[in-house]
Amino acid sequence: MKGIILAGGAGTRLKPLTLVTSKQLLPVYNRPMIFYPLETLIQAGIKDILIIVAPDRAGDFLRVLGSGKEFNAKFTYEIQERPEGLAQAFIIGETFIGRDSVSMILGDNIFFDDRQQIRQGVKSFKRGARVYAKKVSDPERYGVVEFTKNMRAKGIVEKPKVPRSTYAVTGLYTYDNRVVELTKSLKPSPRGELEITDLNNIYLHRRLLDVKIFEGEWLDTGTFDSLLLANTVAAERLRGKTIAV
Ligand code: G1P
Repeated sequence: MKGIILAGGAGTRLKPLTLVTSKQLLPVYNRPMIFYPLETLIQAGIKDILIIVAPDRAGDFLRVLGSGKEFNAKFTYEIQERPEGLAQAFIIGETFIGRDSVSMILGDNIFFDDRQQIRQGVKSFKRGARVYAKKVSDPERYGVVEFTKNMRAKGIVEKPKVPRSTYAVTGLYTYDNRVVELTKSLKPSPRGELEITDLNNIYLHRRLLDVKIFEGEWLDTGTFDSLLLANTVAAERLRGKTIAV
């Protein structure tokens, strides 16, 4: 299983902070944000990781993360010229993925996975696709899963005005090798992006999408307030751990 961290984008919503550097390198308590998703992949046993970055920030990422040796991993870098969608990562990463399966995590998503659900999810993955959904108070900001009465996923809608549930699809996705070809069949959405939600719906309609409810804590950091919350939660958890030791 290969890993991809998508850390492109201009971070417009976090200006002027993102005039300093990429959103994914901003501090979350005591570490740059991207350390959290990196650790999530590494703890899941994924050591071969492609980091996709914006062209004008590539130097910052290389300086901060290097070859991956210090993380006991191997990092490869690619550039996403323009923010043309999350699914574009599988086209940019085609050669890197080769004939393997791949887990992609967004560089601004933080998972506190006390039960090691992600590690288990990666280890047990065989075919199709696997995503993780989490109950949120503001589903309209995310991809939202609609469920049947028996909690079977029925469809996913990207940023719905009227959400059919409060379950957001989090920024961690595992796919089999078909993902590259399936992504090539996608058409850009009205906002000009290759949508990961379209990709997930293809797997879903083929009955190949496994939607797990994430039991840990999940934070995204796309706004000032969610970034502040991520800092607070990370600090509380770290201090909690220190006390416990
Ligand atoms: C993206 C995805 C969305 C997902 C979210 C998780 O949204 O398009 O489906 O729920 O990541 O963070 P974006 O961050 O691009 O607005």
